[in-house]
Amino acid sequence: MKKLVIAANWKSNMTRLEAKKWLEDFSMYEVPSDIKIVIFAPFTLLDMLSAYIKINDLPIFVGAQNISPFGKGAYTGEICAQQIREFATYVLIGHSERRSNFNESNEMINKKIEKAKEEGLQIMICVSDLDQVKILATNDLVIAYEPIEAIGTGKPQDPKEAELFVNQIKETSNVDVVYGGSVNGENVINYTGLDNVNGVLVGSKSLDAKSFVDILKNAI
Ligand code: PGA
Repeated sequence: MKKLVIAANWKSNMTRLEAKKWLEDFSMYEVPSDIKIVIFAPFTLLDMLSAYIKINDLPIFVGAQNISPFGKGAYTGEICAQQIREFATYVLIGHSERRSNFNESNEMINKKIEKAKEEGLQIMICVSDLDQVKILATNDLVIAYEPIEAIGTGKPQDPKEAELFVNQIKETSNVDVVYGGSVNGENVINYTGLDNVNGVLVGSKSLDAKSFVDILKNAI
């Protein structure tokens, strides 16, 4: 049976206090043990999250939402792979919000993939079209397919359309693919139930622990 990856993308949300409350809430629920759970959190929370998860033995992997395309050195404001590696095992690269708000190009994203790989970070890259899949170095990572019109709109893509797209990705690249865009506890099974879909990436519905746990429970 395929092992699902269900990832939370907290974006620019959560203070330390709020994140601690989320973890306390999450700890009160039973969650399926055969799902890989990842939280892509802001850099400011990585230290606290990794420590809390370790001490309380929670079944969660920590991920960063971005990474420097450079190594360590004179790159003011950047967080490099080595620094992320201290607290996180995953990194999310090339989210469409970074492409649109920060002009991230495929070339830049490839540099970030290279840096993440050098430090042994697990990578999830976001794509919204097939050209991106062809240009990006997609071996040994997870692709999150996120149609732009489905992100943050409450209007998820029709699962049949998503399946078609995911099948096309699989023809180009032999990697695990997760779906993202307006996933919630009610619709998650429409995607995780598809043969070629290995999980979901969740934005707004991951901000509340109970909503996220509902997604985990209804994914199987
Ligand atoms: P959403 O965000 O679940 O709020 O649509 C998904 C994402 O941007 O990764």
